[in-house]
Amino acid sequence: MKIIVKNSKKEIAEEVSDIIINGVKENPRIILGLATGSTPIDTYKDIIEKAKEQKVDFSKVTTFNLDEYLDNPDETQSYRYFMDTHLFNGININKKNTHFPGIDNIGTYDEMIAKSGGIDIQILGIGRDGHIGFNEPGTPFDSKTHIAELKEETIKDNSRFFRSIDDVPTRAVTMGLDTILHARKVILIATGENKAEAIKSMSEKNDVNCPASILQKHQDALIYCDKEAAELINK
Ligand code: GLP
Repeated sequence: MKIIVKNSKKEIAEEVSDIIINGVKENPRIILGLATGSTPIDTYKDIIEKAKEQKVDFSKVTTFNLDEYLDNPDETQSYRYFMDTHLFNGININKKNTHFPGIDNIGTYDEMIAKSGGIDIQILGIGRDGHIGFNEPGTPFDSKTHIAELKEETIKDNSRFFRSIDDVPTRAVTMGLDTILHARKVILIATGENKAEAIKSMSEKNDVNCPASILQKHQDALIYCDKEAAELINK
């Protein structure tokens, strides 16, 4: 695991989008693992712009999203809707090649990923409590795709996207920590001072109370932080 500190979230988006764009150019059949949340939005915007400018073909790319809400009454708050809006509708990806975990494929999602060849690059954000996907503190490091109960802090954080906190789903299906660890390359993005504690704890301890700390075991995990998110770590 390597921590890379950049001056701004704009610089991070430029660099991470380059990694993805170059990955697709080198391997048009690349398998991408994708994340939602506000953090990767700038990166997705840059990918769309660069794909247009450089005429990059996404038609053979396959994607697996990290997680999806369960019991979600509002389709426009689903992670499928988020991905369509922020990335898929802006590139020439075949939607048949875009996958999400859900109630019907909990037991087979890891197998689907493995059968497709495995994830080449996994994009991640991080929750304030160190969660990745919806793997909350206490999730075993050897977990596969499973149903997760969201912690109160996560429900509160995600309520900004909903009309009221009562509308936020309390359950989701998420790739497990072991699923994520199997990706060949992992890129975690953290921006803003409210992620500083999570970044400090993932860099210091390696235990289930900080799910993102599993990345310490990964051979090729890049942790991109802006100055604010990195302010509590020793450089
Ligand atoms: C949700 C998602 C995570 C994401 C986190 C942080 O809980 N399931 O994948 O990393 O939110 O979101 P944000 O980037 O908006 O801070």
